[in-house]
Amino acid sequence: MKKNYIIANWKMNLDMMSLKIFFNHFKFDEIDTNKKKIIFSPSFVFIQKTIELIGSNDAQVAGQNLFWEPKGAFTGEISAKQLTDMGCEYVIVGHSERREIFKETDEMINIKIKVALQHKLKPILCLGENYEEKEQGLTKKIIERKLSICLNEIPAGEMRHVIIAYEPVWAICTNIHNTGQSDTPESAQVVHKFIRKNIAGLYNLVVAEKIPVIYGGSVNPDNVNGFSKMDDINGVLVGGASKEASSFQKLISNYFI
Ligand code: PGA
Repeated sequence: MKKNYIIANWKMNLDMMSLKIFFNHFKFDEIDTNKKKIIFSPSFVFIQKTIELIGSNDAQVAGQNLFWEPKGAFTGEISAKQLTDMGCEYVIVGHSERREIFKETDEMINIKIKVALQHKLKPILCLGENYEEKEQGLTKKIIERKLSICLNEIPAGEMRHVIIAYEPVWAICTNIHNTGQSDTPESAQVVHKFIRKNIAGLYNLVVAEKIPVIYGGSVNPDNVNGFSKMDDINGVLVGGASKEASSFQKLISNYFI
C-alpha cells in the first residue's frame, strides 16, 4: 500500500504560544507512520520552531509559498534556498488563497514549481475549480488547463517529487460559498481519477500511477475516513481542522480505519 499524506496547512494561524500548546498535546507515538506521512506547514517565521518541536519524531515541514528568484530586493518574499536552509522538505504552491488574494497565475506557479524542484524542495501543487466554474460544469476543463500550464516543461523524471492537491475552492471552509460542506468523497474521487488520467496523458502511466493526489477542502475528523477509502485519494490537505492538536490527531487516526 502507498503511504498517504496528511498535511496540516496552518495558513496565517498559530502563534508561539499556540504552537507550543499544539506540540505539548500532539502524540506522535499514536501515529502509524508506515502508512501515514505527516507534514506541518507553519508560517515562515515558525518553521524553525516547528522543526525543533517535532524533534526526532517522524514528520516533515512544508513552506506555504516561495518566490522564484534566488535572492535580491523582493521585500516580504522567501526563496527556495531559504526554505531548504530552514529544513523544509516540501512547499505548498498555488494555494487558492495565493491565487485569489495575491493574484498568482498558473504561469507563475509553473516557475515556482521548477525552482522548487531545482532546490530539491517537493512541491505540493494545489488546484481546483471555484464556485462559478463548478456551477457552469467547467471543473474538468479547469483542471486540465491548470495541470498543463502548471506542469509545463517539468520532466517526467522530476514528477516523482510532486504532490497534487485537488482543492475545490468552494469547499475550503473559509470560502464565501462554503456552507461547512466538503466535496463528497465520491465526487472528489471522480476528479482525482480525471487528474490521474491527465497526468498519464501529459507523461505516462507509471507517473500517473505513482503521483500522490490528495484532497483538500473542509476535511475534518468526521469526514476524513470517507476520503481515505477512495482509490485515487492518497491523502488530505487540512486547514481549519489542523489548528488544534486534538482535532488533527483524531483526523489522523480516523484516516484508514
Ligand atoms: P480547510 O482548508 O480544511 O479549512 O477547508 C484547506 C486548505 O485551504 O488547504
